[in-house]
Amino acid sequence: GKYQVYVTRSDMPHGGIELLKKQCNLKLWDQPSPVPRSEFLKSVGGANGIFCSLTDKIDKDVLDAAGPTLKVVATISVGYDHIDVQECRKRGIRIGYTPDVLTDATAELTLALLLSTSRRLPEAQHEAKTGGWVSWAPTWMTGPGLAGSTVGIVGFGRIGQAVARRVKSFNTKRILYYNRSEKTEAKETGAIKVTFDELLTQSDFVICCCALVPDTKELFNKAAFEKMKRTAIFINTSRGGTVDQSALIEALQNNTIRAAGLDVTTPEPLPLDSPLFKLKNCVVLPHIGSASIEARNTMSELTANNILAALNESEMPAELK
Ligand code: GLV
Ligand code: GLV
Repeated sequence: GKYQVYVTRSDMPHGGIELLKKQCNLKLWDQPSPVPRSEFLKSVGGANGIFCSLTDKIDKDVLDAAGPTLKVVATISVGYDHIDVQECRKRGIRIGYTPDVLTDATAELTLALLLSTSRRLPEAQHEAKTGGWVSWAPTWMTGPGLAGSTVGIVGFGRIGQAVARRVKSFNTKRILYYNRSEKTEAKETGAIKVTFDELLTQSDFVICCCALVPDTKELFNKAAFEKMKRTAIFINTSRGGTVDQSALIEALQNNTIRAAGLDVTTPEPLPLDSPLFKLKNCVVLPHIGSASIEARNTMSELTANNILAALNESEMPAELK
């Protein structure tokens, strides 16, 4: 191959790897785990492209270690908060990411989390398996349904809108959204643009679908949880960093809100001794939002095609502009 590409783990879905192999020499971290930082810095020198994931911090030190040969960084994720975008821009390094192809998968997982939290599925399964299922009981394992409820979506991008379309089919009463700009696509679901405070005070379900940027860092803090209904359920499928996690733990312990469903936490993986794992009213998933087989394969191919296009100096299928 005429290009050198560094791949940060050995178990990237192989579709993308096969595409790259046709034109590139690949240097892979040889284990199915994130490359250790020191190893990354040692091995990335001379690469023309980096195929990375959200577990790899791409900062000044990595770019320095790669050197002036580096033309493109492509991440197998839609989120890019792990990449120092300014630093890449300064050096003329292009950035690839994977919007659109994981929207359905992530919206599906968001609905799964919404239902498993509100209808208490993990707790109910645990009871069934451990002898808690004594008889059918009229008030046992009850939780709020989606029908007739008000759902608030924070961040009304591709994923937020896909969540709205799905939520609507559950006969919800109203869908509210909070977003910097008005979204004309909202007409499709009748979603109403409101302020952040209006969304917090009026929603039965508060769903975080926004990117992690300086403006959204710990957007969900103590004050935000206190503004929510005491019966509210909070769902996060974006990034753990949008939440002040200690404030969330306190809100769940004190029943300031009813429950939470999290696909993302701080840190990841979440340590086993985290209070979140001890709370019955919290469902924690290990960051599997985009983990449908189709989505992950397509993400891998898109990441490879982003790299190939950049190296061949043509238009990338999904360049972060
Ligand atoms: C997953 O979190 C992604 O950003 O793709
Ligand atoms: C990113 O968060 C998206 O909505 O695609």
